[in-house]
Amino acid sequence: MIDVFQPGLLAGKVALVTGGGSGIGAGIARTMARHGAKVVLVGRTAAKLDAVAADIAAAGGEAVAAPADVRDYAAVEAAVARAVDSFGGLDILVNSAAGNFLAPAATLSANGFRAVIDIDLCGTFNACRAAFAALSRRRGVVVSITATQAFVATPLQVHAGAAKAGIEKLTRDLALEWASAGVRVVSVAPGPIDDTEGMRRLAGDAADKLKKKVPLGRWGTIDEVAGMVLFLCTPAAAFITGASFLIDGGTALAGNRFELFSPG
Ligand code: NAP
Ligand code: COA
Repeated sequence: MIDVFQPGLLAGKVALVTGGGSGIGAGIARTMARHGAKVVLVGRTAAKLDAVAADIAAAGGEAVAAPADVRDYAAVEAAVARAVDSFGGLDILVNSAAGNFLAPAATLSANGFRAVIDIDLCGTFNACRAAFAALSRRRGVVVSITATQAFVATPLQVHAGAAKAGIEKLTRDLALEWASAGVRVVSVAPGPIDDTEGMRRLAGDAADKLKKKVPLGRWGTIDEVAGMVLFLCTPAAAFITGASFLIDGGTALAGNRFELFSPG
């Protein structure tokens, strides 16, 4: 990977990453640890969190696993307390936990819709709310991972699109309310990212064909998303709040993405 960032950019910082046990969240956690942050990994599956924490430790970084379901406010509060107890405070919250699948709105059950809203949108609110006091003590930052589905009408994605659009709005509202406390709130909206559970679920075995439909001709990488998140947590981004950053190879420019999810 190309790392254009100065080493040690996050030295002395503490980051909590939900969804840190796999995929994009794990990539963000590894990148932050490589740049000196101490990392708290949150997810439901302790074994996945432990494996990422062990990788980070093997690379010379520091991370702890704090298993929690983001739908459970008390559990999320306990994870934030773990960050403060283990590392003395909290500077960065990354919301990457999410659930998704392809489903036609006409047959998606109410519980299926609710499950995704609960994890993505309510889970993000829970983590922001639980982390606010600690973040405000250190003039911290929240970065939430959304998706192009938040902006572009996308078939078979009504649940994920609504959840991610909700997070985009939450980002702007929290940014306004929390600016006076010195807490910045931003979002990053990836398009299709290679080697992730998200794209395994959405593309199935049509990956090669779908890559050609992205204007830049490929999917993004986990490291590219992690680099964008890292930038937003540095002093170079100190005047940025309430903003959303697409990282999608031009996918959203292509408009209606019916063919992306209905390969024919
Ligand atoms: P992933 O590896 O499945 O990451 C999602 C993580 O969230 C998992 O580690 C999962 O671990 C955790 N999680 C799920 N439900 C949870 C809950 N209730 N409480 C706590 N943790 C929970 O998938 P990914 O593709 O890397 O996606 C990461 C993020 O990027 C998501 O926000 C996704 O919407 C976004 N995104 C991905 C793409 C893409 O191309 N992959 C594109 C746009 C946006 P457990 O199951 O162990 O809890
Ligand atoms: N199509 C339609 N509905 C689905 C579905 C699918 N592929 N997968 C799950 N659902 C429905 C279930 O049928 C259930 O509704 P019902 O009670 O009316 O039958 C509802 O969603 C909840 O399912 P459940 O398995 O109980 O939810 P969960 O909270 O244990 O898991 C999911 C949440 C469904 C999102 C699960 O896929 C998950 O944990 N995902 C995390 C990883 C992930 O999605 N990564 C990609 C991130 S972009």
